Amino acid sequence: MQPLEIKKDIYWVGAVDFGSMDFHGYSLSPKGSTYNSYLVKDEKIVLFDTVKHDFLSTMLARLSLVTNPESIDYFVINHVELDHSGCLPQLVKMCKPEKIFCSPMGLKAMQAHFDTTGWPIEVKKTGDTLCIGKRTIHFLETRMLHWPDSMFSYIDTDKLLISNDAFGQNIASTVRYSDEVDPAMLEFAMREYYHNIVLPYSQQVLKVLDHVTALKLEIDMIAPDHGLIFRTKEQVNMVLETYRKYALQQTQNKALIVFDTMWHSTEKMAYALSEGLRLAGVESHIMDLKQHHHSTVMTELSRCGLVIVGSPTHNNGIMPNVARMLTYMKGLRPQNRLGAAFGSYGWSGESVNVIHERLSQMGMEMPLPALKTQYVPKEAFLKQCEEAGKTLGEALQVKVAAEAKRLG
Ligand SMILES: Cc1cc2nc3c(=O)[nH]c(=O)nc-3n(C[C@H](O)[C@H](O)[C@H](O)COP(=O)(O)O)c2cc1C
Ligand SMILES: [Fe+2]
Ligand SMILES: [Fe+2]
Repeated sequence: MQPLEIKKDIYWVGAVDFGSMDFHGYSLSPKGSTYNSYLVKDEKIVLFDTVKHDFLSTMLARLSLVTNPESIDYFVINHVELDHSGCLPQLVKMCKPEKIFCSPMGLKAMQAHFDTTGWPIEVKKTGDTLCIGKRTIHFLETRMLHWPDSMFSYIDTDKLLISNDAFGQNIASTVRYSDEVDPAMLEFAMREYYHNIVLPYSQQVLKVLDHVTALKLEIDMIAPDHGLIFRTKEQVNMVLETYRKYALQQTQNKALIVFDTMWHSTEKMAYALSEGLRLAGVESHIMDLKQHHHSTVMTELSRCGLVIVGSPTHNNGIMPNVARMLTYMKGLRPQNRLGAAFGSYGWSGESVNVIHERLSQMGMEMPLPALKTQYVPKEAFLKQCEEAGKTLGEALQVKVAAEAKRLG
């Protein structure tokens, strides 16, 4: 694939990874990934971010079609995580840039990742600018969106926001713009990315969105470092609004039932709970953790205001898949959810209390005590599960209605 001129004298020179469905070792990326890097040719030639180390040669091949890499004057490193800075040591050696710009926290992160001896690093803080000829770059630190060092670069003449990890999606594609793909696929990929990477930093997202609004930046293109570029006013507004919606985490009228099971008793309870929810008018999605990765669970949870987690008691605790999923979920700090626990047991029956406790620790409201049954559930108990599903569904609807009223 050739480089792509996204604005006059501004080129995408990144790399598309169709081959990996594993994003950074913790999340599935079924559609692959793209590492974006941008080159601006003005009086100074500036490279924004690099790509994951494995793609250095791809990036260089693309870059070389636009300019001689040795002619690059400045590097702007918006984020030091290795998917963006992995090629930095080789590129510094090859290009000998006059300056490398990063945020104050970026300097610390760079020094902790690389031997930066002799690197011409200069720190840029929020509000600082850099004139590169016709254009001026404005820097905006976006601490903890999603690392301490993360920042945005805004190029005023082109109304272009280079947003690093924010607004990214894990999509490998031969097209570069968000308006060239199916909107439903795009929304799914944005949601998957947000809820597996950005979710814990939702408060920072809201602050950054407010800051961008307050600055009255005119933005007609957002170029993230992963996935597709948003190039129309409509797409730019769509992505900003979508991020605000995700960050607010308003309760949604849908339930997620997620479980593991050895002999299917817990599974039977899952289906009975789902039936109760259905009778209460609440759609639910059932996920067996033997089939579903924890990141898929988080993507589904993004649409659900109620999270019901089940595990049989296994060696006085919960099943390993459930423990993994709960650890992952807790780290991503979902807010504003109702929760419930269920499971079958044989003799000691600790699992449901463990789950109840973990969901409570995540700040979930738990309208019902944990549901448990010894060994194989009888019809009467499954009826109780159905009733519990109904009660939970009604509680969810009350919460959704109250929130809608509060938010007007
Ligand atoms: C390896 C193993 C360990 C178990 N450990 C416990 C335990 O510590 N306490 C307990 O109450 N039940 C324990 N059980 C019993 C299960 O919780 C019980 O069989 C339950 O009905 C299984 O539910 P399921 O059909 O959803 O897998 C254990 C079962 C197995 C196979
Ligand atoms: Fe990152
Ligand atoms: Fe990234």
